[in-house]
Amino acid sequence: MPYLDSFNRPIEYLRISVTDRCNLRCVYCMPEEGVAPLGHEAVLRYEEIARLARLVVGLGVSKLRLTGGEPLARKGVEQLVAMLAGIPGVRDLAMTTNGTLLAGQADALARAGLRRVNVSLDTLRAERYHAMTRRGQLADVLAGLAAAGHAGLAPVKINMVVVRGLNDDEVVDFARKTVRDGWHVRFIEVMPLGAGQAGAQAGFVPTAETRAQIEAAFGPLTAVDGSGAGPARYYRIAGASGSIGFISPLSEHFCFGCNRLRLTADGQLMPCLMSERAIDLRSLLRRGANDDELQSAVRAAIAAKPAGHHMDAGPRGPGARPMSRIGG
Ligand code: 5AD
Ligand code: SF4
Repeated sequence: MPYLDSFNRPIEYLRISVTDRCNLRCVYCMPEEGVAPLGHEAVLRYEEIARLARLVVGLGVSKLRLTGGEPLARKGVEQLVAMLAGIPGVRDLAMTTNGTLLAGQADALARAGLRRVNVSLDTLRAERYHAMTRRGQLADVLAGLAAAGHAGLAPVKINMVVVRGLNDDEVVDFARKTVRDGWHVRFIEVMPLGAGQAGAQAGFVPTAETRAQIEAAFGPLTAVDGSGAGPARYYRIAGASGSIGFISPLSEHFCFGCNRLRLTADGQLMPCLMSERAIDLRSLLRRGANDDELQSAVRAAIAAKPAGHHMDAGPRGPGARPMSRIGG
C-alpha cells in the first residue's frame, strides 16, 4: 500500500537524478558555459542510490524513473538499472533521456531491466536541433529512438518543450508524427526554472494555444481514458495510433494529484519540484544511519510535501537549484 502524504495523496513514484551533468546545453535549461558540476564525492554511488530506492520502495513506491542531467552521460548506468530492477516491489522502471547516447546503450539497458524511455526532443530540424541544444545532432536522437524501439523499450514517449519563437512552429509537425509514425508526443509548457528563466517566461506558450494549433490542423482531439495518475492529459487525433499528451505545469494545477518524490544526484530528497527545502539523505547515509533512521527521514520528506507550488508567481530565487540538478 502506498504511503499517504498530509493531503492524502498516495506517494507511488520516485524520480532519481543520477547525474547533474549533461552532454547538451538546451537553451531553456542551461547557460552556454554549463552549470558548475557537482564534485565526484558529492554524487551518490550506485550502491547508495539502490539502498535509498529500496527503502523508499519499502514505503509503497512502485515506480522509479532515472533522470539527469543526462542519465546516459554517467558511466555504467545499466549497472544501476540492474540493481533497481532487482528490488522487490518495483513495478515500473523507466528513464528520461535526451536520446543522443541511446543508440549504443538501448540493448544493454533493456537487458538490465529497463522497461521504457521518454526522449526529450524539441525539434525535428537538424540545424535547429543543433542550435537549441547548442551541440547535439538530431541524427543521434533518431538513431536512439530506433534502437529503443528494437530493444523493446516501449512505448517510447517524446517530450517536446514548446517555446515561442524557437519551436512553436513545429507543433503541427510533431502532432503529425502521432498519425504517420505512431509516436506518443507530450507537449510541455516551459517552466521558469532553468538558466534561461527570463527567456522561458518570454517564450511561454499556454497548452490551450498548442492544442488549438493541433485542432486547427487535424480536427477535434478525443480524450484517451485512463491516462493515469501523472501530470499529462492524453488525447488522440482521429485515426492516429500514437497519442498526444499535454503537460501544463503553469496553466493547469495538477498538484492535487501529485504522487512523486525526487532524489537529486547529491542525495537530497525533494518533496516537490519547487521545494526550497530538501531532506539531506546523503549526510544521514554517510554518517552510518540505519534503515529505520533513513526511512523516518523519507517519511518526513513525504510529510513536508506542500499542497502545491507557486511557479506562476514568477522565477525562483537566485539560490534555487538548476533544473539539471533536479531532473525535471
Ligand atoms: N521547462 C519545461 N521543461 C523543461 N525541461 C528542462 N527544463 C525545462 C523547463 N524549464 C524538460 C526537458 C526534459 C524534461 C526532463 O524536462 O526537456 O524533457
Ligand atoms: Fe541536458 Fe535535458 Fe537540460 Fe537539455 S534539457 S541541457 S538535455 S538536462
